[in-house]
Amino acid sequence: MKRDVIIACDFQTQEELLSFLDLFHEEKPFVKIGMEAFYGSGPEIVRQVKSRGHRIFLDLKLHDIPNTVYRSMLRLAELGVDMINVHAAGTVEMMKAAKKALDEKGSKAILLAVTQLTSTSEDVMHQELWIDHSMEDTVAHYAENAKAAGCDGVVCSPLEVQVVNKACGDGFYTVTPGIRFADDAKGDQKRVTTPAKAKELGSSFIVVGRSITGAADPVEAYRRACREFAE
Ligand code: C5P
Repeated sequence: MKRDVIIACDFQTQEELLSFLDLFHEEKPFVKIGMEAFYGSGPEIVRQVKSRGHRIFLDLKLHDIPNTVYRSMLRLAELGVDMINVHAAGTVEMMKAAKKALDEKGSKAILLAVTQLTSTSEDVMHQELWIDHSMEDTVAHYAENAKAAGCDGVVCSPLEVQVVNKACGDGFYTVTPGIRFADDAKGDQKRVTTPAKAKELGSSFIVVGRSITGAADPVEAYRRACREFAE
C-alpha cells in the first residue's frame, strides 16, 4: 500500500478552491472535498476537480437511517470519486447500506468509516457523549464494526492507527487527519501529530488542511508533508 498525502480543500467557494489548485503545476495532489465546499458549490465542484485529473476523497460523513444513506450513496457514487465516508456511529446496518449502494453502482471508491472525530477529546467523549470506554477501545470497536460492514478502512487519529491495525489487520486503511507540522498551531484539533510521526505510527493516508491551505507557500508546505510522510 503506497502512503499518500490528501489535502483538505476546505474553501467556501468553487473559485477559491480552484485557484488554490491552480498553484500546483508539477504535482496533482489527492484532494479532499468536504461539507463546506460541497454545500457551497454542489456536485459541480467534484466534477470540476475530477476533470483536472485529481483523485478525490469526498468527505461528507454520512450518518442517517440506512435507507437514506443507501439512496444518497447511490447518487454520490455517480460522481466517480476515489474515496468516500460515513460515520461508524451510524451502525453496521447503515455502513452496509452505504457499501451496497457503491457495489450496485459498480463504484470502486474506498469506503471509510469515521471512528471518533479528531476534535473530540476522551473527556468530552465520556462526559458529553456518555461513552464509558476508553478512546482506544471505542475506536478499535468502531473499526471492527466498519470492517464487518464491508468498509475498506477508517478515519481516525494517527495516535489510534496501531489499535486499528491490531483489531482489523494491516490491509485495512487508516486515513488520518489531525496533522500539524511541529511549528504549527493546533486550531480546534485535539489529537494531533506531525506527518513524520503519522508515518512512524503507520497511517495509510494523512489528511492535511490548514497546515497546507493556510501556509504562506502552500506548494512548499505540501512538498514538506510529502517529504515527511510519503518518501
Ligand atoms: O485543517 P485541518 O488539517 O484540521 O483539517 C482536517 C480535515 O479533516 C477537516 O476537513 C476535517 O473536517 C477533517 N476530519 C477531521 N477529523 C476527522 C474526520 C475528518 O479533522 N475525524
